[in-house]
Parts: sequence; structure tokens; C-alpha cells
Amino acid sequence: MNVVILAAGMGKRMQSALPKVLHPLADKPLLQHVINTARSLKPKKLCVIYGHGGAAVPSAVQAWGEDGGVAIDTALQQPQLGTGHAVMQALPHIDAAAPTLVLYGDVPLTTGASLQRLVEAAGDDKLAILTVEQANPFGLGRIIREDGKIVRIVEEKDATEAERAVKEINSGIMVIPTRYLTGWLDALQNNNAQGEYYLTDIVAQAVAAGVPVVSAQPSAEWEVAGVNSKVQLAELERRHQLNIAHALLEKGVTLMDPARIDVRGELICGRDVTIDVGCVFEGRVELGDGVTIGAHSVLVNARVAAGAKIKPFCHIEDALVGEQSVIGPYARLRPGTELGQDVHIGNFVEIKNSKVAAHSKANHLAYVGDADIGSRVNIGAGVITCNYDGVNKFRTTIEDEAFIGSDSQLVAPVTVGKGATLGAGTTLTKDAPAGKLTISRPKQLTIEGWKRPVKIKK
Ligand code: UD1
Ligand code: CA
Repeated sequence: MNVVILAAGMGKRMQSALPKVLHPLADKPLLQHVINTARSLKPKKLCVIYGHGGAAVPSAVQAWGEDGGVAIDTALQQPQLGTGHAVMQALPHIDAAAPTLVLYGDVPLTTGASLQRLVEAAGDDKLAILTVEQANPFGLGRIIREDGKIVRIVEEKDATEAERAVKEINSGIMVIPTRYLTGWLDALQNNNAQGEYYLTDIVAQAVAAGVPVVSAQPSAEWEVAGVNSKVQLAELERRHQLNIAHALLEKGVTLMDPARIDVRGELICGRDVTIDVGCVFEGRVELGDGVTIGAHSVLVNARVAAGAKIKPFCHIEDALVGEQSVIGPYARLRPGTELGQDVHIGNFVEIKNSKVAAHSKANHLAYVGDADIGSRVNIGAGVITCNYDGVNKFRTTIEDEAFIGSDSQLVAPVTVGKGATLGAGTTLTKDAPAGKLTISRPKQLTIEGWKRPVKIKK
């Protein structure tokens, strides 16, 4: 089979400099959704027709083509003279002996299963159209049947009143026996309301030539919904997110509200995971058994091990959270954070490029950057690792069972030995020996007989 994806249109109603098919749905360009679905069907040839937006579309396509799936060709359609003219540009890139599936680059949510049904309906020698009964078919091509058989497609702008009353519409997605395609496309005329070469006109030609025309239906209307505006893009985003949410529910994940989750990548969940409202997942996120994610947290390329609890309003990116750990509320784990088992990271604590071993705690208002922290370490409120001298970054090492008093600054490179204690407010510039109290505070003194100044009357 060949797949041809039409993506040359300009997408004026998007009101954007970005070509329409490159607008993201769930963080991935519309066209990439279509290409991924197309590739899942294992076509022999895959060709994207581009036009508007210059080199942006082919260069994006080329980058996706390098990931090892079916090779992707691109063909320029310039100027854009209609869908039939667009398919014509693909002819040098496809195999004449195999059927051709036509997809639209701005229709992102068609499922592989529906396309498979269409391909099966077409077999080797039939023209098969993906159609849908739509309550409001305005603007779309209507399927005209006689005695139940499809005889042609008529566009809204060319239709009579009786034809406009037809609710069965052309999704635009069809499978065409390629051996007839060149002849049919050559015979297209543009004497219609839009002055375009309509791909849909091949249907009447097929009927005249005695080639059977059949149809298949997707399992839902949104599968053939296209994006022409930001309103439609937003609607399809919610639909897609709801589909993802339902798939998570089916797998046993508890979602406090399936309408309030956004997965912009891959979310892999163990058993008995609970996700509260307003969470965003980007890239690849893995949640182990029994993990709970509090409301309004954002997780990007993260792994949270079994039994860990993320409290509300956390931001976790390129980080690992160990088993049974408790994070947040309001914690930030930045790239390179690796937390061991039962680590507690509390409110307004930021951790970057650091390892924290089992049972350690930093519960309030701290910055830990470029540090190696042992197990059972306690980091007090307001502690800061001074990892940056304005030019270079240095590491801080805190060994097992150390206690870092509140409001201490550890000027890296520096090491706190095993079981050492830092008094509150210590500015540590040299290593603190193991098992001892180190403190850099001036001794406290009280001045006897001191009096507060009094206000001088004027
Ligand atoms: C087309 C169909 C219509 C169908 C509707 C479904 C035709 C003549 N009409 O109408 O029956 O109900 O889709 O949405 O086929 N494109 C190109 N080059 C062009 C023109 C279009 O690549 O010269 C691409 C567009 O980028 C888009 C797709 O083809 O991805 C459909 O084009 P669009 O203008 O939206 O088609 P409609 O007129 O809406
Ligand atoms: Ca359209």
C-alpha cells in the first residue's frame, strides 16, 4: 500500500506564521500524528504533499524520517490547485501496483483500526471512502447514493438544495486503486464553484468505469475531524486528552477528573496509581505502583518509584524519585535529581543535579545543587549549597547522618563528614569533620545596661 498525506493547504484561519500541519496537538505536530498512524499501517511508500510554509514542513518531515520507520518522501505542490492536483504530485513517488490511501495532514486523530477497515473494504480493486453521518454537514462534500450505491461526491458549494440535505459526508480519506489513478486525475476538470481540481470527482469516473465504490465508517466522528482554526485545534486537544484519560482509567489508574489531565507524551502507570486534577505530563513519565500525584503538578521525563507521594503543585523534570518518597507541596526537582528511598522534600525546596540517598530530608526552603547527599541526612530550613562562583560550578558532598543546621551556606567544593553537625547559620568554606559540631557563627553576647534609644521631641 501507498500512503499520500495532503498537507499543502495554507490554514489561513489559524492566524499564524506556523504552517497549519505543524501546530501541536498534545505537544506533537498534527502532521506527526498522521505520519505515526500511517506508519503503523506499514505502507510501502509514504509521501507528504506540502506547499504553504516553505521549507518548514519538509524539514520537519525529514527529521521524523530519520527515526527508522518507513521512509518518508515529500513532494511540493505549487500552486495549490485542489486536492486532485495535490495527489497528482505524489504519482512519481508511489507504487502503481499497490492501492493508495489518501490522508489529510490536518486530520490528526484517525485511528489505525478505522483505516485498516477502509483498506480491507477497498481490497485490491475497489475505491473505498471513509464516510460519516453528520448532524451538521455544512461545508463538507456530500456522498450521493443511488439505490444505496455511491455514485459521486458533490462539494457544498456545488450542491443543489436536495444534495445539501444529505448528512453522509466525505471525510476526504479514501483508498484508490492506483492503476486507475493517473487516468482519473488527468481527466479532472476545474469547472466548479471553486475552480479547483477536486479529488472527489474521481468517484463519478470510477462508477462510469465500472470500478466498485464502497465506504467504511470510523468508530467516532472525531476520527475524521480536521483542524482549520484554533477553536477546532482546542476541541481536538480536549478530545485527544479525554481518549488518553479513558485509556488510563481502563488500565486501572484513578483520575480524580478525567477531563482535567494533560498527557503530552507517554505516561506509563503501575497498579493503583492516583492522579489528582490539573496535572501535566510531558515526555516519558513512569509512575510505579501505588504512586499518588497531587493536584496541579507538572512532571517531565520523570520516574517516580512505587509508593511515592507527590503532593500538590510540584514541578519535576528529568528526575528520579525513589520508593516511598514524599515530595512537596511546592517542590521543584530539576534535571539530574536522583532521590533514593523514603526521601522527604518539602515546600519551596529546589534540587538540581544532585543525588539524595535513602531516608534523607530537606523539608523547607532550601537549594541543593550539584550535591551528593548520603542517607539519613537532615537539611534544615533555608540551607543553600553555593555551587556557583559566577564562572564555575562545584560539588558539595554531605555524608550519611549529617545534620545541616538551618540557614547554613555550603560554599562548594566542600564536604561534610559522616555524622557531622553544622550549627545554624554556618557559612561553611572548609570541610566539616565527621562526627563533630562545626559552627561559623560569632559567639552570642548580651550587653548589660544597654538601653533602647528614645524618640527626641522636636
Ligand atoms: C475536502 C473535500 C470534501 C471533504 C473535506 C473534508 C475535495 C474537493 N473536497 O474539502 O469533500 O468533505 O475535504 O474535510 O477534496 N490540500 C492540498 N492541496 C490543495 C488543496 C488542499 O494539499 O491544493 C490539502 C489541505 O491542506 C487539507 C486537505 O487537502 O489537508 C483538504 O483540503 P481542504 O481545502 O480543507 O478541503 P475542503 O475544501 O475542505
Ligand atoms: Ca478542511
